[in-house]
Amino acid sequence: MPTIFDKSEKGKTGTSFKEESFAEEAPEEELDDKLLRSDDPGLPEVSQSELIRHYTELSKKNYGVDDGLYPLGSCTMKHNPKPMEDLAKDHRFQNHHPLASEDLVQGNLELMYELGEMLKSISGMAGITLQPAAGAHGELTGMLMIRKYHEDNGELDRRREILLPDSSHGTNPASAAVAGFDAVEIESNEEGTVDLEQLRSAVGDATAGIMLTVPNTLGIFETDITEIAEVVHDAGGLCYFDGANLNAFLGRVRPGDIGMDITHFNLHKTFSTPHGGGGPGAGPVGVKQELVPYLPVPTVEKNEDSYEFAYDRSRSIGKVNSFSGPFGIMVRAYSYIKALGDEGLREVSGNAVLNANYLKERLKGAYRVAYEGLCKHEFVLSGSGVGEGVKTVDIAKRLLDYGFHPPTVYFPLIVKEALMVEPTETESKEALDEFAEAMLSIAEEASEDPELLHEAPKTTPVGRLDETKAAREPVLRWRTEDEE
Ligand SMILES: Cc1ncc(COP(=O)(O)O)c(C=O)c1O
Repeated sequence: MPTIFDKSEKGKTGTSFKEESFAEEAPEEELDDKLLRSDDPGLPEVSQSELIRHYTELSKKNYGVDDGLYPLGSCTMKHNPKPMEDLAKDHRFQNHHPLASEDLVQGNLELMYELGEMLKSISGMAGITLQPAAGAHGELTGMLMIRKYHEDNGELDRRREILLPDSSHGTNPASAAVAGFDAVEIESNEEGTVDLEQLRSAVGDATAGIMLTVPNTLGIFETDITEIAEVVHDAGGLCYFDGANLNAFLGRVRPGDIGMDITHFNLHKTFSTPHGGGGPGAGPVGVKQELVPYLPVPTVEKNEDSYEFAYDRSRSIGKVNSFSGPFGIMVRAYSYIKALGDEGLREVSGNAVLNANYLKERLKGAYRVAYEGLCKHEFVLSGSGVGEGVKTVDIAKRLLDYGFHPPTVYFPLIVKEALMVEPTETESKEALDEFAEAMLSIAEEASEDPELLHEAPKTTPVGRLDETKAAREPVLRWRTEDEE
């Protein structure tokens, strides 16, 4: 398909406003020479209709959660209610200057403070920061607090290790490493949970803490979590709970009640902001009382009847984001939590778990399920053994021909040919059945005509892409012939 640059023709324009019509509002101002560029920026010149048609055509080649079921495991690609979008776009929220004085943004500060209080109550934590811009950023913030805590106790020199189950989310070991710790892997047992014996032999003087993804990437809740906390605490370590999978236990379990010291939220998974596409995220972090002094500054505090950014925190790890953090996402989360109420939030997790188990039961005859038994909000299948030479990637590509976004593939790494399915609570039984029918018919095709799967997808704008080349040599912007 031609790019918008290929469609460009010198002199074409999308608007026909006369310069004079702006004259009164925008007095002419001489721009400093250094702000002006002398070369032609080479922007595409097209008419308005060409522009709209170009991008509408492109959007039709895309697939998003508003097109249909998007069962991407670990991503919680659920429907995000449109009223929350509208609120976030309301000019009274959107147009505040990030440097506006506090007395002009009391409403925004109140919203942030109240959101923090609600997140504390949902997680059972004593303090909160709303600054981190993603789940992984929240993890790093938590790791930096663990670091400073051990430093204050004079133990950082020897407490170099963060323990990580092999079923933890991929960002966990990365965050521990970026914070300067050594990641030590703990193997899962036959049930797919942390092996307590292994854990006992791994903890010691070098333990700074543990990072637990709960439910883990197999969709299983750590049944021995309070024992795990005890073992780590007894060794002088802290417990970090990756709460990005909150959709599985919202309103039912609070990390703070089961021995966890720190947790992060992925507001962009659970609370009405779309996840993915590299778009903005928000990863607030909640901590137990002992770690409150280490929270990033500023926090939002309430005085008698006003709100302020508070910087007075002597042991703070400092600032982790610019200005007040991802505010638009906070508006969505605040309004979503308020709209659903306690009962509504409990229903979210109930239906997320019900939908995942329903789908797992429908698929388990045709595909091997990695771990039997009840799952939480997601489950892992294996694509191996469904047909001669058929791999998980073939199943994923064939799903595109059936009009579905595929599940997460080849993750978690501990399952061979993994297909990780997270249907979410916002899908109806009819939608789940349609997806199940597609998966079952692909399993039949795989045993009868494997070649069909190897050649998939046939109905998409492009077929199989060279993913290695795309990862190794990404071409992320268009260049003029002169630039190439
Ligand atoms: C369990 C878990 N932890 C951490 C993350 C990282 O979050 P982010 O992508 O916002 O950095 C994710 C992302 O989906 C996740 O599923």
